[in-house]
Amino acid sequence: MSACAVVGGQYGSEGKGLIVGHVAHEFSGHVRVGAANAGHTLYTRDLVGEYHKHVMQQLPCSVYADPSAVAYVGPGALISPDIFEAELLTLREFYAGRGESAPVVVVDPRAHVIQEWQVYKEQLSDLAERIGSTSATANEGIGACQAARVMRDSGCVIAGHYWSESEAVGMGFELGDVPAAAWEHDALLLEGTQGTGLSLTTGHFPYVTSRNTTAAGLCADAGVAPTRLDRVILVCRTYPIRVASPNGGTGTSGPFYPDSEEISWEAIGVDPQSERTTVTKKVRRVATFSMDQIKESVMLNGATEIALTFADYLDPRIAGLSSSSSGRWQSLVDYPDVERAVESVQEATGVPVSMVGTGPRSVLDVFIR
Ligand code: GTP
Ligand code: MG
Repeated sequence: MSACAVVGGQYGSEGKGLIVGHVAHEFSGHVRVGAANAGHTLYTRDLVGEYHKHVMQQLPCSVYADPSAVAYVGPGALISPDIFEAELLTLREFYAGRGESAPVVVVDPRAHVIQEWQVYKEQLSDLAERIGSTSATANEGIGACQAARVMRDSGCVIAGHYWSESEAVGMGFELGDVPAAAWEHDALLLEGTQGTGLSLTTGHFPYVTSRNTTAAGLCADAGVAPTRLDRVILVCRTYPIRVASPNGGTGTSGPFYPDSEEISWEAIGVDPQSERTTVTKKVRRVATFSMDQIKESVMLNGATEIALTFADYLDPRIAGLSSSSSGRWQSLVDYPDVERAVESVQEATGVPVSMVGTGPRSVLDVFIR
């Protein structure tokens, strides 16, 4: 088995859903970990050309991007049962509407199911106020569930105890050993969540999330041995974002890198309404690109390639350009601002930029030098 990890290079919302959707067909198995505070957005196009938007908080994007692949929820995942069950229902309805059967979904029985007491515990904590935790404001209890797991709290409930085998089948999934099943795939995709800057141990404490979001953390949560990884795609935005500050001010959901500057959406000609978090719907903070952050993220993840998303923020003329509409490989010569950005990232990191995101539904495969 060889595995590819897709990870965020900044503070999340880099467009991992877009990139996973673009490469999905190359993998027969997809593993998602993390929790519902990450929302991966992807679009499918139906036979009459109409787009359908899917925001995936628990299941891998492959369930829409490549339904022939097996979708796994790894042992490190934390599951919000209502969100997970709703996602499964939507999935079944989507495929039933097309007269097709839904893809196979396997959940590791060791994944934890978030309990109501954990939601209350997190709401009562000062997390949301202190660090702008999205999980605490969105009533998800993710940090509290993870903390309870670390403490082996007697109130923890794992997936294998929460759902019986027959309940699972009735809802459209199976309980099974994900690391063992993943091992059998020739090509496996690990779908990372959030961003490297939010990683628990190497991020800017305390403005971090409750787990390690790097490729190494992803391997551990998926139950995939690190020696299996031969490709790590680091997804980076042209303008990194952070979640909104706890009290509507600036600065308190954590710092940006010193070689970047916090700016307004208006300054880069972007409607702030379009930059609300997928899950909590708050307008994000934004900054100029930090090369120091990308260099550090390349190091922490061992990135083998970079996907640079939101190129349409550098040059709106590139918006919507995709490999399918323009032939597979694309030169950026007509878009000098984008070309310069790609070249400077490659030069500073020594890592090729293989893909460029040009809008919520479009990706270009670019020349690798
Ligand atoms: P988390 O794991 O939740 O941090 O997020 P993510 O990286 O999966 O982010 P997501 O897929 O939700 O993307 C964030 C938003 O940006 C979504 O609304 C996407 O549709 C949109 N998006 C992704 N790539 C691009 C791009 O290249 N240009 C533009 N304009 N929008 C994009
Ligand atoms: Mg998101």
